[in-house]
Amino acid sequence: MLPLSDTLVAEILSLAADAIICVDGEQRITFFNDGASRIFGYEAEEMLGQPLATLLPLRFRTMHSAHLSKFGKSEQSSRRMGERSLISGVRKNGEEFPAEAAIAHMQSERGPVYSVVLRDVTEQRRADETNERLLAEMEKAVKQRDEMLGLVSHDLRNPANAVKMLAGAILRLGESGDAELPAEVVEHATVMLQAATQIDALIQDLLDSTRLEAGRLRLTPQWTSAGELAMAAVETLAPLAAAKGIALTRGLAPNLPDVYADTDRITQVLSNLIGNALKFTPEGGAVRIESVVDGKFVEFSVRDSGSGIPPDDLPFVFDRYWHSKRMNRSGAGLGLAIARGIVLGHGGRIWVESTQGVETIVRFTLPTRE
Ligand SMILES: Nc1ncnc2c1ncn2[C@@H]1O[C@H](COP(=O)(O)OP(=O)(O)OP(=O)(O)O)[C@@H](O)[C@H]1O
Ligand SMILES: [Mg+2]
Repeated sequence: MLPLSDTLVAEILSLAADAIICVDGEQRITFFNDGASRIFGYEAEEMLGQPLATLLPLRFRTMHSAHLSKFGKSEQSSRRMGERSLISGVRKNGEEFPAEAAIAHMQSERGPVYSVVLRDVTEQRRADETNERLLAEMEKAVKQRDEMLGLVSHDLRNPANAVKMLAGAILRLGESGDAELPAEVVEHATVMLQAATQIDALIQDLLDSTRLEAGRLRLTPQWTSAGELAMAAVETLAPLAAAKGIALTRGLAPNLPDVYADTDRITQVLSNLIGNALKFTPEGGAVRIESVVDGKFVEFSVRDSGSGIPPDDLPFVFDRYWHSKRMNRSGAGLGLAIARGIVLGHGGRIWVESTQGVETIVRFTLPTRE
């Protein structure tokens, strides 16, 4: 390697955006590059021969000079680049600014030389502070939204349940034969019952998702049959599948071990997954639930022959309130987020595999006795 000429080295140093400053054994400035002029506002001529301390806030001057001579005396740190540390500098106009500085100690034929490489981090600090502030504001807004949702959902439950109960009572009155209800009344009461049931389910989802987010969703797991869990969910959704003309089938591996699960919550997970499969599969399609043993877990899968999920959308499907832009909005976008929270709460995993236009498979695992 050819040694660089002194002029070339000086030119390279002057090009650097950082301040590069050298001082002698007396801590007087012997080199002050263009970067240093830009940062501190002094011309090199003004600074040559001046004490380095001129560039530091008054309160640091004595401490810094003691530190520098100690650094010069220590065998180990001499010649080696010191770590970048955060210090304060002061410009010609008196303005103080945060800087990152590294210091090195060398011996030259004219005695010791300290060189300081310093970077003005004012902008970086400002950007960091802005980011931190924005993040804190965002977190606060999300928390407030969740608290608000929790409150509103909670207060909406009673009126929703009242409508549900009364619509049910009207229908039972007709069924019992105690009253002769006009067909129109029966029809209206049926629609009211359906609507109130939908409202109730949405409120329940909003409450669950806010509880999950706050880590307040309680699970009461017990040893339970994996096969029965899958069977119960399939039976509940069979009428919906039949109404949509979709073949809903199940395949359970023989001798499935028990899983440690909160039955209601896992039934909710399976219902959400089967509900999605039915929602995104056209008439004549097929939905299949399987359970197999996978090491210390039972793996459940829900496979449908529906629209599939585009690869770009896959990373977002478990986000709260997320919907694919490519599909009509038909739900709150909470089902998978809740399913994920519940499965993770059981110590399991949940994931999606999908081929657009062909099929979607959502799989999740639950721990077994072994
Ligand atoms: N089986 C599936 N096939 C195709 N797309 C799906 C399937 N399951 C989920 N998705 C996509 O993922 C999105 C999020 O699903 P998620 O269950 O969380 O919400 P949702 O069904 O839209 O609303 P909610 O479940 O709250 O009623 C869906 O809107 C859909 O775009
Ligand atoms: Mg859903």
